Amino acid sequence: MYNPINLQTSRLRLRPFVMLDASAVFRYTSDAEFSKYLDYDAPSSEADAIGFLRMVLAGEMGTNLWAIALTNQPEVIGAIQFNIESSEIASLHYEIARWLWGQGLASEAVSAVLDWAKVAYPKIIEIHADAHIANAASRRVLEKFGFKLISIEDDSAYYMQSVSWSNNPDVTD
Ligand SMILES: CC(C)(COP(=O)(O)OP(=O)(O)OC[C@H]1O[C@@H](n2cnc3c(N)ncnc32)[C@H](O)[C@@H]1OP(=O)(O)O)[C@@H](O)C(=O)NCCC(=O)NCCS
Repeated sequence: MYNPINLQTSRLRLRPFVMLDASAVFRYTSDAEFSKYLDYDAPSSEADAIGFLRMVLAGEMGTNLWAIALTNQPEVIGAIQFNIESSEIASLHYEIARWLWGQGLASEAVSAVLDWAKVAYPKIIEIHADAHIANAASRRVLEKFGFKLISIEDDSAYYMQSVSWSNNPDVTD
């Protein structure tokens, strides 16, 4: 079931997507500069955004996928996903509307999700992420959080973070 927990940071609310987010999702994903480095098709029409939200709400994209909104505004301005790939491996994806780039918002969302994941998924030992090799901002975010470059294939840079959350006292076998 799609039901991510609400997370709060000083400037952001990470909350479940709702169908009413369609126009705001379209507003930021339809920007050519935003989607330039993406290896998936971001919604490029409001109908696409509705289709995307239908999939999200049906749970087809996993449960740990949040809409990002500024604390004082209802509109979605990005998304972040902590996808569980297996019992020990997760992957991380994030996006922020172009007009808000360069203010540390992606980093703030990543920090909140990693803090949450430590408790929610203490058995995860690897987090994977990738970015287009020319996507300097995305690569910088990963590097700031300790992700190590493990390979470059075609136009993609693949990163991994080894985590030792198994030391977390919440772990039970
Ligand atoms: C990648 C993305 C999420 C970053 O969002 P953001 O809120 O601007 O990120 P932050 O401000 O938290 O951090 C960006 C970092 O990259 C740095 N950066 C930005 N542009 C850069 C560039 N051209 N070269 C080097 N560093 C750059 C910033 O200085 C900052 O690092 P710092 O904190 O050390 O100063 C945003 O650009 C985006 O949504 N892009 C489109 C979707 C996308 O590419 N998602 C990632 C898929 S892999």
